[in-house]
Amino acid sequence: MIEINEVTKKFQDKKKSITALKHVSFTIGKGDTVGLLGENGAGKTTLLRTIATLLEPTDGSVKVGGYDTVKNPDQIKRKIGVLFGGETGLYDRLTAKENLEYFASLYGMSKHDTKVRIDELARMFGMRDYLGRKVGGFSKGMRQKVAIARTLIHDPEIILFDEPTTGLDITSSNVFRQLVHQLKRDGKTIIFSSHIMEEVTMLCDKVAMVHKGELVYHGQLEDLYAQENSRDLNFIFMSKLVRGDEYHAS
Ligand SMILES: Nc1ncnc2c1ncn2[C@@H]1O[C@H](COP(=O)(O)OP(=O)(O)OP(=O)(O)O)[C@@H](O)[C@H]1O
Ligand SMILES: [Mg+2]
Repeated sequence: MIEINEVTKKFQDKKKSITALKHVSFTIGKGDTVGLLGENGAGKTTLLRTIATLLEPTDGSVKVGGYDTVKNPDQIKRKIGVLFGGETGLYDRLTAKENLEYFASLYGMSKHDTKVRIDELARMFGMRDYLGRKVGGFSKGMRQKVAIARTLIHDPEIILFDEPTTGLDITSSNVFRQLVHQLKRDGKTIIFSSHIMEEVTMLCDKVAMVHKGELVYHGQLEDLYAQENSRDLNFIFMSKLVRGDEYHAS
């Protein structure tokens, strides 16, 4: 369970203060698959980084499995796997396998468990042919697959993906989608941000929409469809944002 309680996050940029999140509160249950939606700069990455203990809220708190992200980050880090768009966190001079072994060692995994897990992930992502090659020479999609495998190496309960399919081709995006289905069957909690409504519609049970740092909707996708009298998430998203702006203007 993830409890986000009145989270406000401000950044100091030169002399200007930027409020990336404003009093955001919602709860994510075990086994939920949540799509995080919002325009560029809405606060999605900031929210994911806060849940991942990488940023401290300016105000409010986040609890993951009962642990506070500021007071007990280490307990939380073991339970979660994170992947942020653009930053794969991989070492170019190491092979894909060496990268995965390195991250496994950070989680204190045994040699045997590491080998079994790497075999499993390599099979799942069709990476066996290039496991022994240096990551520096990889294409964007190959790199992204290794990065996703790295995120899952310690079999985390909670998985945070920030725009995971950006840069992936259709085949790799489908591999990712199958992976999410598998993770759902395994009872994992998944939160991912995406600008691809089709992906969110296909994979998520719940959505959280942020607009200019504020949560404008959180709940079941089906409830949102019923409430908006439409099953077109793209349309619903746009109308929610327009209404949000009208609300701000008044
Ligand atoms: N380290 C930082 N320093 C200053 N401002 C920041 C920092 N990180 C984020 N921001 C600001 O916070 C706001 C929210 O940014 P965030 O990256 O969370 O948006 P996003 O929803 O992930 O957008 P995108 O879809 O473009 O990835 C933006 O105005 C951004 O410029
Ligand atoms: Mg982002």
